[in-house]
Amino acid sequence: MISTQIYAQRRERFLQRLGSVAAVIPAGPLVTHHADTEYPFRQNSDFWYLTGFDEADAVALLLPHRPPGERFVLFVQPRDPGAEVWTGFRWGTEGAVEHFGADIAHPLSELSERLADYLGGAEGIAFRVGRHPRVEPLVLTAWARQLDRAPRSGTAALGLVAPCPMLHELRLRKQPEELERMREACRISAEAHELAREVARPGLNERQVQAVIEQHFLEQGARGPAYGSIVAGGDNACVLHYTANNAPLRDGDLLLIDAGCSLQDYYNGDITRTFPVNGRFSAEQRELYALVLAAQEAAVAAVAPGETAEGVHDTAVRVLVEGLVALGLLRGDVDGIIERGAYRHLYMHRTGHWLGLDVHDVGAYRLGEHPVTLEPGMVLTVEPGLYVSDRLPVPDDQPAIEERWKGIGIRIEDDVAVNEHGHEVLTAAALKAPAAMQR
Ligand code: GLY
Ligand code: MN
Ligand code: MN
Repeated sequence: MISTQIYAQRRERFLQRLGSVAAVIPAGPLVTHHADTEYPFRQNSDFWYLTGFDEADAVALLLPHRPPGERFVLFVQPRDPGAEVWTGFRWGTEGAVEHFGADIAHPLSELSERLADYLGGAEGIAFRVGRHPRVEPLVLTAWARQLDRAPRSGTAALGLVAPCPMLHELRLRKQPEELERMREACRISAEAHELAREVARPGLNERQVQAVIEQHFLEQGARGPAYGSIVAGGDNACVLHYTANNAPLRDGDLLLIDAGCSLQDYYNGDITRTFPVNGRFSAEQRELYALVLAAQEAAVAAVAPGETAEGVHDTAVRVLVEGLVALGLLRGDVDGIIERGAYRHLYMHRTGHWLGLDVHDVGAYRLGEHPVTLEPGMVLTVEPGLYVSDRLPVPDDQPAIEERWKGIGIRIEDDVAVNEHGHEVLTAAALKAPAAMQR
């Protein structure tokens, strides 16, 4: 697990970036499932990154304008045996100080009366509007009071700014301890894919395969799936976010599985593998699988310091388009097809995203005109695919799709960390060579 010293270091770095701006970072809420039942709690990733505190509704204040020893204030649910007997242990204010390094902790009920005082003297307030309906009115009220008093007091926070650029720049570059956690999430996720391929066979339902995958996540101590597992037989694989997972697996179809676990401390794996349900590729499946794999391997090879996520995507697109022209699924000049996007009825998503505490992790992909340059510590997925179906219209200048190709959906996704030498594939334990996909 990430140590308390690491959380303290992160807060220190964030405080430095804040300058004289005070940050208000709320925890996540419990979310109603139905009636008086809630979904399992999922902490807000920004709050988690700075605190490692896993209770709902808390609020962290990071106050660079205050003296040392008053810069990290936590508002938390107080100890309450009557409530804890129903919903479990709380750390309370004492635990927040002793175990989570808070300089000062207060019961949550005191936030409204104390917030304005804590924010007093800051030059601005960093708070993400639109996301925290319970805390937002308190922040706005505190800010308004400061502005009202400014003519007499002489100071007020002048602007409300988003904390994201400062915080997400930190989250984008993973520390060595985080990479260790991500290796663990990827190990468990990769093992689950290997197990799934062993059990899959014609006649099994998609959700029986899902059960094998998610059982492994839980057995290994993870919280569960990092996102709705996608277990998609045949044409279902052409639905990018297919999560119904309730169809029988058919002899002759491919099975696409996009699944990864989330650890107790919220680090995630995100892996996709595609293989034949009966253990043997048809000729068309083999051709397209080889093509997606070639695109994926070329794109993974393009992950290195100084390169860009955009370059990784462009690499995958070029290999796919060249291959699709060779197979007759596209027609014309490769550069022209790429420029016009005339391949998008077959490949309609980007090749990857940042990965971290969020599966689609934070961090800019472009800064103004310029794509963000890859640096050691950044982690991204590389996940090209091909989806052959009638769902999207074929562009006018492109050939109609022959029936023999339809119902083939293939994606291959690895999680890749940039390092000094190039990259490390965190998910290499999930096999992907064509021979390994066969029985
Ligand atoms: N599983 C979501 C994604 O691959 O982006
Ligand atoms: Mn995925
Ligand atoms: Mn992904």
